[in-house]
Amino acid sequence: MESKFQLFFFTLSLLILTIHAQTLATYIVQLHPHGTTKSLFTNKLEWHLSFIQQTISSDEDPSSRLLYSYRSAMDGFAAQLTEAEIEYLQTSPDVISIRPDRNLQIQTTYSYKFLGLSPDRENGWYQSGFGRGTIIGVLDTGVWPESPSFIDHDMPPVPKKWKGICQSGQAFNSSNCNKKLIGARYFTKGHFAVSPTRIPEYISPRDSSGHGTHTSSTAGGVPVPMASVFGYAKGVARGMAPGAHIAVYKVCWFNGCYNSDIMAAMDAAIRDGVDVLSLSLGGFPVPLYDDSIAVGSFRAMEKGISVICAAGNNGPMAMSVANDAPWIATIGASTLDRKFPAIVRMANGQVLYGESMYPLNNKEPSKNKVLELVYLSGGDSESQFCLRGSLPKDKVQGKMVLCDRGVNGRSEKGLAVKEAGGAAMILTNTELNLEEDSVDVHLLPATLIGFDESITLKAYINSTKRPLARIEFGGTVIGKSRAPTVAIFSARGPSFTNPSILKPDVIAPGVNIIAAWPQNLGPTGLPEDKRRVNFSVMSGTSMSCPHVSGIAALIRSAHQNWSPAAIKSAIMTTADIIDHTGKPILDEDKPATSFAMGAGNVNPHRALNPGLIYDIKPYDYVNHLCSIGYTNSEIFSITHRNISCHAIMQKNRAFSLNYPSISVIFEDGMRRKMFSRKVTNVGNPNSIYSVEVVAPQGVKVIVKPKKLVFKQESQSLGYKVWFISRKRVTTNYAEGYLTWIHSENDSLRVRSPIVVSWKTK
Ligand SMILES: *[C@@H]1O[C@H](CO)[C@@H](O)[C@H](O)[C@H]1NC(C)=O
Ligand SMILES: *[C@@H]1O[C@H](CO)[C@@H](O)[C@H](O)[C@H]1NC(C)=O
Ligand SMILES: *[C@@H]1O[C@H](CO)[C@@H](O)[C@H](O)[C@H]1NC(C)=O
Ligand SMILES: *[C@@H]1O[C@H](CO)[C@@H](O)[C@H](O)[C@H]1NC(C)=O
Ligand SMILES: *[C@@H]1O[C@H](CO)[C@@H](O)[C@H](O)[C@H]1NC(C)=O
Repeated sequence: MESKFQLFFFTLSLLILTIHAQTLATYIVQLHPHGTTKSLFTNKLEWHLSFIQQTISSDEDPSSRLLYSYRSAMDGFAAQLTEAEIEYLQTSPDVISIRPDRNLQIQTTYSYKFLGLSPDRENGWYQSGFGRGTIIGVLDTGVWPESPSFIDHDMPPVPKKWKGICQSGQAFNSSNCNKKLIGARYFTKGHFAVSPTRIPEYISPRDSSGHGTHTSSTAGGVPVPMASVFGYAKGVARGMAPGAHIAVYKVCWFNGCYNSDIMAAMDAAIRDGVDVLSLSLGGFPVPLYDDSIAVGSFRAMEKGISVICAAGNNGPMAMSVANDAPWIATIGASTLDRKFPAIVRMANGQVLYGESMYPLNNKEPSKNKVLELVYLSGGDSESQFCLRGSLPKDKVQGKMVLCDRGVNGRSEKGLAVKEAGGAAMILTNTELNLEEDSVDVHLLPATLIGFDESITLKAYINSTKRPLARIEFGGTVIGKSRAPTVAIFSARGPSFTNPSILKPDVIAPGVNIIAAWPQNLGPTGLPEDKRRVNFSVMSGTSMSCPHVSGIAALIRSAHQNWSPAAIKSAIMTTADIIDHTGKPILDEDKPATSFAMGAGNVNPHRALNPGLIYDIKPYDYVNHLCSIGYTNSEIFSITHRNISCHAIMQKNRAFSLNYPSISVIFEDGMRRKMFSRKVTNVGNPNSIYSVEVVAPQGVKVIVKPKKLVFKQESQSLGYKVWFISRKRVTTNYAEGYLTWIHSENDSLRVRSPIVVSWKTK
């Protein structure tokens, strides 16, 4: 008896081991661009297949394992392999790295939301021709091509350099592209390798979720008059660069966005001829050599393509910023001065501030009925969060239901309340969201209140037998609140992987953004929502990213020969650090730090004429990676350059990357650090700039020279800056600014944020 059992267990574990070793998973295999065996094959595809051939059994077709063969964003391929097969491949001298595929997410605060563009930020951009002639590639959930934001009436012809396609698929063919939407592709192989069962979504560039339609139109949508969401935020909706062309690359599906698909899209986009790549997706930060987006975007940057990425929504936690490679522009989220008040008036006379969009009688302001409040807390957390099916009809019928934020999507909570017969909903922020006010469209009258207000409301409910309240909708209110502020969810620095570069780079509008929406979806994005709209509202660094992608296109169009680093420098050094009331930009109730807002909130008008730029050559990033301690082979896998850091560092001990912001790290006991920078004159040929320094607390700053005299355009001049620590022991941070000010125009300022950190072991 006993021995039988043992035998059984033995075979079982053997079986598990075998299955484990034979399980197929997706891996991205990076190859040496000048591999020893490459010349034996007529093309890269054959060469890539040869690696699979070597490691699988001889009766199998290697192409059945291959997902993608990459040529432009990196050299290598994605394939379905077992662990044993990878171990074998790793012994090949031509293999640089093998990375398991990784699933990233779109960066809205909830994926069941919408996107849009702020109509109040449109003035003054005409001089750049609205981004004419540039092509923005958007990696996202696809596009709804019939949206009025993609009508091409006033668009110039498709640029000659464009080599992309309009790929046919489900409910999508070449007639869906035009002079605005010039290209569309979709990438499913990494996705299907993990999720072979197809949830109903378009297997084509057509957008099933709304996110990609929103981000694409934010970057480059044409002006659409009378745009609104159920009468809210009425006005002209337009993208940041309405003259730019859009190419969509669908890489995100309902289960996320796989690196293997993203890499394939970047590979295609580089060859297609895009000028800007916009990626509103990401995950948690990983080292650059493990980060496919960092690797692919290095090649893109070398080809002159600006890569703009969302910083992520994991704020306000420190070190949460993702997509933080120095050659990427990393974008956090800010708020607009536009509010959608929907206050809660309790029967005891107290009033709580909330925000919402709900169509009530098409009148603004309007009042909802007085209703009994109910909060189903205690024990059953499902009903506290209003999960679908968790609300007992007898308890919520005809009432106003409180739902705590978290667990499920905000719009889905509204559906749950409606399905259970509830008449209205109050979404209550928790300690995780504090006073964040991302507004949604709901299926029933609803509002969202902050954490402080939620405590008041819950105490009131506790204090009386029959708590009553009503919601009063105030329509759209502009200019009454301080803005911009840093959105609470916006991911924060310092960079986890590379604190020597300040990240995020800038913040841009990302809260309650209105942009184009699929015309077959209700504004909540829920299948149950039968209402139809052309625009909807979404929040997240996903929404901030395409604002900057559009601005990059404007700058590119106005300054054709600028590098991605120059464009980023223009955006950073001209960003605003004060809000529209003239006071420091706030983060909750305190002035925002550079770890929250980077160089500040984007100012597109000023970015078109920055005066000076900090340029960076691709090779400078190699030196930089050496200086922060990456190994030769790690650098090889990021940059495809075979270098010796030892030799580089010997030649250039004091190397510092010519970045438009400055991060000073005093390691244990260190007192003094020197940085060199070089600025290039892109303004008037004869220009004199003087330096102004706001020194970080506890640090003395010396700049030499203090005056830069330019005699011609494109002239570059260097300066050095010394930081001398006066602190004894501390682990704190301090901040300041270094600004070059034009002698004849005090408002022409080239500002770099400085962050100082003291590290003790
Ligand atoms: C594309 O699809 C539309 C609508 O289904 C159809 O009318 C049209 O002929 C198709 N065009 C091409 C080029 O296939
Ligand atoms: C309300 O009462 C419940 C149960 O008595 C208690 O757990 C909860 O803390 C109270 N909430 C507030 C906000 O007073
Ligand atoms: C959406 O846009 C289309 C095309 O411009 C228009 O015909 C339609 O009426 C719009 N729908 C709504 C709900 O505004
Ligand atoms: C890199 O260069 C060195 C010397 O130039 C050479 O010995 C080495 O094989 C090269 N490595 C790779 C991976 O190409
Ligand atoms: C001064 O610089 C600002 C910012 O670049 C610019 O808008 C303005 O036109 C300049 N003024 C003059 C007189 O050149």
